[in-house]
Amino acid sequence: MMKKLWPHARPYAKWIGFGILCSGAEAVFELLIPLVMSDIVDIGIANGDQSFILRKGGLMVVLALVSLCFGLGSAVCSSVAGQGFGANLRRAEYDHIQTFAFSNIERFSTASLVTRLTNDVNNMQLSLMMGMRLLVRAPVMLVAALFLAVRISRQLSNVFLVSLPLLAVVVAVILARVNPIFRSLQEKTDALNLVVQENLTGIRVVKSFVREPHEEEKFSRRNSALKSTSERAFGAVVINMPIMMLIVYGTIIAVMWFGGKLVYAGALDTGKLITFFTYITQIMMSLMMVSMIFMMLTRSVACARRIVEVLEEVPSITDQEAQSQQDGDGILHPAVVADGSIRFDHVSFKYVPEAAEWILRDIDLEIRSGQTVGILGGTGSAKTTLVSLIPRLYEATEGTVLVGGRPVKEYTMEHLRDAVSMVLQKNTLFSGTIRENLLWGDPNATEEELWNACRAACADEFLERLPDGLDTDLGQGGVNVSGGQKQRLCIARAILKKPKVLILDDSTSAVDTATDAKIREAFARELKDTTKLIIAQRVTSLCDADLILVMDGGRIAARGTHSELMEHCALYRDVYRAQQEGVSIGG
Ligand SMILES: Nc1ncnc2c1ncn2[C@@H]1O[C@H](COP(=O)(O)OP(=O)(O)OP(=O)(O)O)[C@@H](O)[C@H]1O
Ligand SMILES: [Mg+2]
Repeated sequence: MMKKLWPHARPYAKWIGFGILCSGAEAVFELLIPLVMSDIVDIGIANGDQSFILRKGGLMVVLALVSLCFGLGSAVCSSVAGQGFGANLRRAEYDHIQTFAFSNIERFSTASLVTRLTNDVNNMQLSLMMGMRLLVRAPVMLVAALFLAVRISRQLSNVFLVSLPLLAVVVAVILARVNPIFRSLQEKTDALNLVVQENLTGIRVVKSFVREPHEEEKFSRRNSALKSTSERAFGAVVINMPIMMLIVYGTIIAVMWFGGKLVYAGALDTGKLITFFTYITQIMMSLMMVSMIFMMLTRSVACARRIVEVLEEVPSITDQEAQSQQDGDGILHPAVVADGSIRFDHVSFKYVPEAAEWILRDIDLEIRSGQTVGILGGTGSAKTTLVSLIPRLYEATEGTVLVGGRPVKEYTMEHLRDAVSMVLQKNTLFSGTIRENLLWGDPNATEEELWNACRAACADEFLERLPDGLDTDLGQGGVNVSGGQKQRLCIARAILKKPKVLILDDSTSAVDTATDAKIREAFARELKDTTKLIIAQRVTSLCDADLILVMDGGRIAARGTHSELMEHCALYRDVYRAQQEGVSIGG
């Protein structure tokens, strides 16, 4: 685990080293102070030597100031290193998440990824900061104070033989108890974040179904689960305090008892006894620090494990098998998609490898470049799944998907997805202006090209009515445009890529029939060479396609042109008739 995390801290190695040195030095100077004090009592006060007392008093002030300076230095170094480490870790996680395929993200859930990126990293950075301050300071204080205490009186130091092992046992017991609780604490945080995230992204649905009370209840359930787990974890941690205090005071009483006797018998100076007390406090304080460090480390080990899980997740779709091809001059280039032909060669697919049921079963399909293919089928018949395999959003479990005559694996994702443009069923616009969103399709598109794409997607009419036109600000996730307008902008964005294959997944569902027809006409005119796959619920959206696929339960139940299907496929005929009736009743 350290091997995975250390590279992100390495750029701050100097700060870490310097900070640790500072905190060690701080501890040493703090330890010298009681020694001077012992001199003041035993020599200065005993002899009534005022100038000696003043001189030694001055020395104590200087020592305290030096120790303060080192303390400040260590604080500065630890914050620089801690914050820097946190930032590096966050960036590494974020960058790695960008390489994830959908299936990787589904395995973690987005809420958990957010927690791992924020909360867990915060914990790690706090641990590093505290660790740098205490990890050296506490043992240095402990060993030095013990050494000095033994030097003052070996006899009296025997007290530690009882109290130190006792403390160790207490700490060990507490650590064993909190360790599992800390892991579950982070999981509870995930669960809470999931509720918050779902609620906020779906706030419109929540409000329209008046589900606020239900959502509140769901939130408060998870919130109290988190609270009770935290209480259990930190309850065990704070119990640490009173038990330790009990042992500390027990030790002090024992030292008073035996020390008093020694002083009485003349075997020990009063000054030495006072100094001894200071050391006991320091020993006990540093033991408390050590136990605190252990608690903190236990928690950050839980967090570190979660972060490393993300960093070690192997993206399920990579460019590893991408192939090169030679150009005319014999120079090797990554393979590019030659044309828009698509072939499914006995493809089967399931989202979860362990699932018993196949989502797609033995699909065999051949689409020529430039064809328009309509896909029809009931909800859950795996239409979206089928087309997702073309831009390799998911990987076929069995069989091969070929685009432009090559298996999709042989292209880099960049080249494949440049050539295959998909308008998703749940499409998204990002905050920013309309222009910025459209430029995702082609960053170098001219004004002319932008408007052409918008015209093809029938987005021009409403854009012209907007006072700021293309520069209208969309707000977060495109809340400022209607559902149909959003769909048209997403289509325009996909067209701008000038793809070899264009996939529209139910992308005109919120567009009226007349506009839908206009968009299809524009496609036939503007995108002659592009293979077009159109998933639609309305038969009228598909009936002029070169090939229509009727999907049913993960299989292609029937295929053919509109007239062929009307003749042979009862299912298709029924759907068509039902929809025509709907039109005649509605119209
Ligand atoms: N990410 C996913 N993980 C697991 N199962 C999924 C996932 N997405 C879809 N499924 C399952 O796969 C099946 C096919 O889903 P798909 O989205 O392809 O259907 P569809 O034909 O597009 O439906 P619709 O017309 O409603 O869009 C469904 O039974 C669904 O439960
Ligand atoms: Mg779908």
